[in-house]
Amino acid sequence: MQIGVIGTGHVGLVTCVSLAHLGHDVCGTDSDADKIAQLQDGMSPFFEPDLEGMLQEGLSCGRLHFVSHPAEAIREADVVFISVGTPPRASGDANLVAVEAAGRTVARHATGRCLVVEKSTVPTGTAHRLRRALRRERPDLALELEVASNPEFLSEGNAIKNALEPDRILVGAESEWAHQVMRSVYAPIIASGCEIVETDIATAELAKHASNAFLALRISFVNALARLCERTGADVLAVSDVMGKDPRIGRHFLSAGLGYGGSCFPKDLIALKRISSQLGYEFPFLAEVARVNDETIEAALEKIRDALWNMEGKRIALLGLSFKPGTDDVRFAPALSLARRLLEEGAQVVGYDPMGMANARQDVPEIETASDSYDAAEGAHCVVLCTEWDEFLNLDLEKLGRLMAHPIMIDGRNVFDSDAMRAAGFAYYAAGRPPITEEDASARSQP
Ligand code: UDX
Repeated sequence: MQIGVIGTGHVGLVTCVSLAHLGHDVCGTDSDADKIAQLQDGMSPFFEPDLEGMLQEGLSCGRLHFVSHPAEAIREADVVFISVGTPPRASGDANLVAVEAAGRTVARHATGRCLVVEKSTVPTGTAHRLRRALRRERPDLALELEVASNPEFLSEGNAIKNALEPDRILVGAESEWAHQVMRSVYAPIIASGCEIVETDIATAELAKHASNAFLALRISFVNALARLCERTGADVLAVSDVMGKDPRIGRHFLSAGLGYGGSCFPKDLIALKRISSQLGYEFPFLAEVARVNDETIEAALEKIRDALWNMEGKRIALLGLSFKPGTDDVRFAPALSLARRLLEEGAQVVGYDPMGMANARQDVPEIETASDSYDAAEGAHCVVLCTEWDEFLNLDLEKLGRLMAHPIMIDGRNVFDSDAMRAAGFAYYAAGRPPITEEDASARSQP
């Protein structure tokens, strides 16, 4: 099939390369001409495992193209995916200006029957607006331009796998023709056994928002539980494990720590709350999910203050700056929220991340950057583990402690073993687990 993709951000570019990999003729376009030039040269503008290799594979077999003029991506297309950004407005509403503009562009350049597919996460009701925009732009093609919703469930760091081996394919559409077109787009994946869930458009739009909001809710639930564990002496890791053994609950997304970040959860949760209240229903507890998430940063700050007393003049090393491991993305990264708060309180902040350093420097230029974990720890009064990259799990803890002004670790992702920290002489504060204070650490190291 001939497929056009408008917007080559994380979702759009993964859509381009995976659909080309499935055998379609794909043409991606973006308003950023530099990005298009970079893509034409086979370079990905961001890190995502396997993405660049598949991009080059698509370009060299001639099934994948990038153009800066959208007309070329649209004119021959059977299907056009809209995967432009939907950033939050100050009010929390999703800003859909780019979605409308993309829809109008498709209508202007379409030459015949074409399915216009929302791939970006959009509030329920967007398809209806989009359809109107298409019709206003091209009344002559009113019956030829149909709208569908095909939300993406990809998770950064796993995006290619999520796109080629999804848990489910979700398509919201209004006609059998549209559903048939989408079955053809995903035919190889469906043939390999993946379920395609076909719904009306409003259901598909809402199901995507609901999935993200529910995952965020689980994270906030376990983070609130962590606060309670800290007050009772219980261990949140063990509580999560016990809960997770119930198949009705499961263990996923029950890891307490610094909370969620990224380009989806923070934005989608608030957008869902906004659209719900605009529709006359104050969806309870969505605002609480966001509030508890913000509280995780305050909880970490309290631990740092407890360990260091005054912040002024203290050197604090952050290990991990990206919003999660496996990506260089720092959007809404908890590590950067923490860094900003520490800097406000007069601390000196040094950070290290295997991939996210350049992006972090751009967002918070006041962070000093280090060449590795040991370099970051040198002279630090405290280390905070913010993102659970694998390389941090294998650190030589004794060496790390020796380099520091004081061996104090705040574990923002609950990845270290308390006994190992104690053996390495660390005062250790984790989220929702009993702390090892400096006194405990020195008492144990006495003969
Ligand atoms: C998410 C959804 O998982 C994906 O389905 C959707 O399409 C887009 O949003 P992503 O933002 O890439 O994907 O990251 P995800 O792996 O879901 O993690 C989000 C955040 O939650 C990260 O900051 C992560 O550290 C945090 N998290 C996750 C926790 O704090 N605790 C957990 O138990 C799980």
